[in-house]
Amino acid sequence: EKGGYDYFMLKEIAEQPKAVADTLLGRIDAAGSLTLDELRISPGALREVDKVVVIACGTAFHAGMIAKYAIEHWTRIPCEVELASEFRYRDPILDPQTLVIAISQSGETMDTLMALRHAREQGSRVLAICNTNGSTIPRESDAVLYTHAGPEVAVASTKAFLTQLVACYLVALYLGQVRGTKWGDEIRAVIRDLAQISGQVERVLETMEPVRELARSLAHKNTVLFLGRHVGYPVALEGALKLKELAYMHAEGFAAGELKHGPIALIEEDLPVVVVVPSPRGRSVLHDKIVSNIQEIRARGARTIVIAEEGDEAVVPYADHLVRIPVTPTLLQPLVATVPLQVFACELATARGNEVDQPRNLAKSVTVE
Ligand code: F6R
Repeated sequence: EKGGYDYFMLKEIAEQPKAVADTLLGRIDAAGSLTLDELRISPGALREVDKVVVIACGTAFHAGMIAKYAIEHWTRIPCEVELASEFRYRDPILDPQTLVIAISQSGETMDTLMALRHAREQGSRVLAICNTNGSTIPRESDAVLYTHAGPEVAVASTKAFLTQLVACYLVALYLGQVRGTKWGDEIRAVIRDLAQISGQVERVLETMEPVRELARSLAHKNTVLFLGRHVGYPVALEGALKLKELAYMHAEGFAAGELKHGPIALIEEDLPVVVVVPSPRGRSVLHDKIVSNIQEIRARGARTIVIAEEGDEAVVPYADHLVRIPVTPTLLQPLVATVPLQVFACELATARGNEVDQPRNLAKSVTVE
């Protein structure tokens, strides 16, 4: 049932192009507009939304962090994202104009469920983004957008994460489409790019052998740091989480702009630092700032592992290891940038002799608070 792979995780990483395509299927019409009738929240109600709050745990929370960038950019609706376990206990301000988005692969995570119950008691509408048909979270929500990743067996989430991202983009773009913003042309262009993205994920998967080799060479290390900016920041957090849970290594993700506010003190000779580089097109200021960050850490001896877009030549002189990802719109980059980090963590775990599908102390769905 592992389809020829040694681990479910490897199979699930490989299934990502299909999972992404399946999650888009039937949701983009022939004219290139989104059709999300399944949302069961009327366009009128969506036009009245004045705040979005995303709640989730773990990897799903990282998808939520990326959703915030997309929602605020394409809809101009203020969006907060919060760990479900924190949200529930701090008396959050909610009302009927607040749209709460609960993201959960299993649909059974107790913290997320308690948070959504709390939101509904305050009169907010809850939209679930979920991978498990008929599970508790979608049953208790006002509406659901299912991800079509298929069953995810490995404890560490991979294909579910990519499809959560797709669902978040769909919601953001749909809100933008329904409400009509000045980003109309961009929204139409991104919908076209999204329709192509599964092929780009496939291309990343075809070039992962050097990443696996690199992972094996780092199996004896104790610490790996991850840096990113903008949507690359949650990608860095996700890369670090994968490494903790699978390789049992100390791994931390930082916003690259925070380096000089503390983390740069951690840099020492030969410390592996993975940097997720934003596209040089679009927000070129961010790109240039991260290139200086890479220079700074390399000057202090870090071993730089740079994930950068094809054609980005500015990073070449400072990359000890360069991982190329396809050109995508800035906000969609996490769909391709996360894949090498999953492969990296999986291979490191294998090299360290860990149980990839069943990491110690972890359960696939956390049904206690
Ligand atoms: C990480 C991982 C966990 C889950 C988290 C939420 O690889 O799998 O962090 O993402 O427990 O689970 P769901 O999405 O089922 O609510």
